[in-house]
Amino acid sequence: MAFPLDLISKRPTPFYLYDLGLLDRTLQAVNDSIATHPDFHVHYAVKANPDPILLSHIFMAGLGADTVSGGEINIALQAGVKPRDIAFAGVGKTDRDIKIALNAGIGMFNIESVQELDIINDIALSLGKKADVAIRVNPDIDAHTHHYITTGIAENKFGIDMRDLDTAISHAIGLSGINFVGLHFHIGSQITIDTPFILLCERVNEIVARLDSEGVSLRSVNLGGGLGIDYEYPDRHPVPDFGLFFDSVKRHLDIPAGIEVHFELGRSIVGQCGTLIGRTLYVKNGHSHDFAIIDAGMTELIRPALYDAYHFISNLTGDAEHRPTRFYNVVGPVCETTDTFATNRRLSRVVRGDIIAIRSAGAYGQSMSSHYNSRRLYPNLYI
Ligand SMILES: Cc1ncc(COP(=O)(O)O)c(C=O)c1O
Repeated sequence: MAFPLDLISKRPTPFYLYDLGLLDRTLQAVNDSIATHPDFHVHYAVKANPDPILLSHIFMAGLGADTVSGGEINIALQAGVKPRDIAFAGVGKTDRDIKIALNAGIGMFNIESVQELDIINDIALSLGKKADVAIRVNPDIDAHTHHYITTGIAENKFGIDMRDLDTAISHAIGLSGINFVGLHFHIGSQITIDTPFILLCERVNEIVARLDSEGVSLRSVNLGGGLGIDYEYPDRHPVPDFGLFFDSVKRHLDIPAGIEVHFELGRSIVGQCGTLIGRTLYVKNGHSHDFAIIDAGMTELIRPALYDAYHFISNLTGDAEHRPTRFYNVVGPVCETTDTFATNRRLSRVVRGDIIAIRSAGAYGQSMSSHYNSRRLYPNLYI
C-alpha cells in the first residue's frame, strides 16, 4: 500500500487510515467469485468495523448485513442496507433489540437457545409479526485458530448442541410467531486453511440430509464467517482468495438445489484496508531490547494484547529516508504490560516523531477500541 506520508505527517495521531480503493477491489473480488454461484449470498459482519463510510461502500456493492445488536441494525440501515438483507445473531439478544429487529422487518434471526425462540415468538406475536428464524447449530468442529476465537466446538457458549437440534426445530415449528427457515453455523475466525470449512460442509451435508429424510425442508443454510487474511504479508495478499474459498465450499457442499447458502464475512472484507497510524514519542534503550514507544496503544488496537495477534509494522518515516534497520519492541503508552504491539521487530531506525503504521487493522481494530486511560482516537483518514 502506498501511504501519503506528507498528508499523514500533518495530522494528529493516533488515527485510523482506510484505503477505500482497496476495499472496493476486495468487494469486487467477492462479487466476481460468487457470480458463478447464484445460490450464494454474502453478508458483511458489521462487528468487524461499523464505520459508516466503509458500510456505505459495502452495501453499495450489494452485500447484506450480519448484526449482533439493535445498534448495529440501526447503523446498517442508516448506511443503506435493505432491511430484508439483515441477519441478527448473538447469544444474548435483549428484548429491546428483538423489537428493533422486528419493527425494522429484518430478514432473519439466528437464534442460539430454545428460550430465545420463546421470547422472540412472544414479542413477535405482541407486535402482530412473524419472525423468520434460523437455528445456530454448534457443529463441534475445531477451527484450529486462537482458542479465544474458536466458536464451534462443543464446549463453547455458541449455538445449540447437535443432539438437541431436532427438539429445537420441532419447538420452533410449533410456535405461531416463528417461521423456521434454516440453519446457521460459525466455527471461528482467522481460519487460513480450508480443512475446517470442508469439515463444516460435511457436517452440514449430514444434518441437511437427515432433516430432509425427516420431512424438514430448509430455505437457507448460513455457514458464518471466518475466512482469514495475511497479517504477515499484507502487501503480498491485500485481497483474500475468495474464489478459492467459495469454490471449495461449492465443491464440498452437497445439499438439495434451491437452498440458499449464506456467508457472514467480516475480517476478510475490511481487515486489509485499515491501518492504525501512530507517532513515535520516545525511543528507550532497555537492557535486552530497545523500545519504540508510540502514541497508539491497546486502546486503539487490542488484538495483540487480547489474542497475542501479529500485525505487520513499518516505520513510514524511516523507510522513506532509507535508514538502516534495527530491532525494537514496539509498545503503546497505556499502563499495562500487554500494551505491546511487537517484540524484537526489525524496523528502519526509529527516532522521535517517526510515523509508525500498524497494518491489517481494519477488522476488530477501531470497533474494539476503548477510552481506557481517558485516551482519544483522532479522526479517520480515507484515501
Ligand atoms: C456469528 C458470527 N458470524 C460472522 C463473524 C465474522 O467472522 P469473520 O470476521 O472472521 O469473518 C463472527 C465473528 O465473530 C461471528 O461471531
